[in-house]
Amino acid sequence: MIIAIDGPTASGKGTIAKALAAHYGLPHLDTGLLYRAVGRQVFLTAGNPDDPDHALAAADFPESLLEDDALRSEETGALASRVSIHPAVRAALLARQQAFARQPGGAVLDGRDIATVIAPEAEAKLFVTASVAARALRRWAEMQKRGENVTREEIEADLAARDERDRTRAAAPLRQADGAALLDTSDLPIDAAIAAAIALVEKQL
Ligand code: C5P
Repeated sequence: MIIAIDGPTASGKGTIAKALAAHYGLPHLDTGLLYRAVGRQVFLTAGNPDDPDHALAAADFPESLLEDDALRSEETGALASRVSIHPAVRAALLARQQAFARQPGGAVLDGRDIATVIAPEAEAKLFVTASVAARALRRWAEMQKRGENVTREEIEADLAARDERDRTRAAAPLRQADGAALLDTSDLPIDAAIAAAIALVEKQL
């Protein structure tokens, strides 16, 4: 069984994906981490994220980079969003994601193009979203906890810019796939969002 979860940053899709993986006993891949590793590698090699050749070279990042805490930062997220527009970068990461999806027994993957490109054959598809204001508030609270000093306005502007880039790019833009169930988490505490996600998956099985 493949469960495909797509949606914008801070929609709750990562937490929901982890909870679904635990619920169904399936392995989970956060595909955003792969793009974040490419973004981080571009930075570490002093490359230009907007140059397709530099971005493609960075797609050959060392595996150890996936353990780097810096992958979670806002800066790396913004770089990930810039390198991910290049079709060659997406192609370089495709086989790895598809192999994960198609392992015997199934898997849960979350990202932007899981149900549209990586695994359109998935048995269950969710498109998890939330308002920009709700997502910015969550991200801000997370960053406060980590002691990072940024305002909600800055986060909202960054989220809006990333949404725009993810939705309007030519290669694998973020969109709700045919047959994907919509889950808006704007007004849902995380436990309720997880319960709703399980109910939507059950309906599709
Ligand atoms: O989900 P996360 O915020 O970690 O993703 C970082 C960036 O990587 C996104 O803004 C998006 O541009 C890109 N991404 C993508 N396709 C995926 C996962 C992430 O283009 N499947």
